[in-house]
Amino acid sequence: MASAFDGLLPPSVACEDLSGLSAAREDELCDVLPPSERAVVAGAVAQRRREFAAVRHAARRALSRLGRPAGVILPGTDRAPRWPAGVVGSMTHCPGFRAAAVALDRDAASLGIDAEPHAPLPDGVHDLILAGEERAMLAELAGERRGCAMDRVLFSAKESIYKAWYPLTGRWLGFDDCEVTFDGNAFVGGVLIEPAVVGGTVVARFHGRWAIRDGIVLTAVHVPRPG
Ligand SMILES: CC(C)(COP(=O)(O)OP(=O)(O)OC[C@H]1O[C@@H](n2cnc3c(N)ncnc32)[C@H](O)[C@@H]1OP(=O)(O)O)[C@@H](O)C(=O)NCCC(=O)NCCS
Repeated sequence: MASAFDGLLPPSVACEDLSGLSAAREDELCDVLPPSERAVVAGAVAQRRREFAAVRHAARRALSRLGRPAGVILPGTDRAPRWPAGVVGSMTHCPGFRAAAVALDRDAASLGIDAEPHAPLPDGVHDLILAGEERAMLAELAGERRGCAMDRVLFSAKESIYKAWYPLTGRWLGFDDCEVTFDGNAFVGGVLIEPAVVGGTVVARFHGRWAIRDGIVLTAVHVPRPG
């Protein structure tokens, strides 16, 4: 089945997304959450319960495509999802859209996906998220990529990088700790702090791809398993 993330991740990654689900349908998904997951969002507002349940529905569909049981996906104390043994993955939600991507850990060391509404970032956010030469790069891209809110794409790319980075390191990565460059629909995030180490291999550059589809900015990062 086609996914909004098609072409942004290798074929070994299973992606599932859900668009435009009604609140009533998402409430049904809340009702069928396993009890341990339901407890996580029991005190949350309805919107949070809905996105939590719907994205896990997408994740379980993706896991079943990998031939993995659709077990519970609880958050750790750091909010990072705890995937079943042998699986890496990532989840994202924004208004009207929820998506999950999973892979066997022999096919990927880590994944990060992010979705954002396609609109320029609010005033003031640039000062909080830009690193190195990114401001100059955005000024150049504004001429080359008319109609694309490249600041939003950059923001999303950084969030995808963080979601791939964190499971590898257990460490915070600030927006100014990573500088992103674009090459067409590919991007690379160069980490400016102590890099990740995966199976003895230093990983200081995170590679990803982006697209804008149906009004949503999509970014995805895949960290290959070394060797
Ligand atoms: C964690 C963060 C990236 C989530 O992004 P977001 O746009 O707010 O929300 P999204 O809907 O796209 O993603 C939320 C999902 O991310 C996942 N997530 C949360 N924390 C995570 C972490 N530490 N590592 C990996 N995934 C994480 C969860 O699955 C969460 O969904 P859930 O709570 O329903 O399980 C963001 O809140 C954050 O803290 N950003 C600051 C760090 C950063 O981005 N640095 C940039 C480095 S260049």
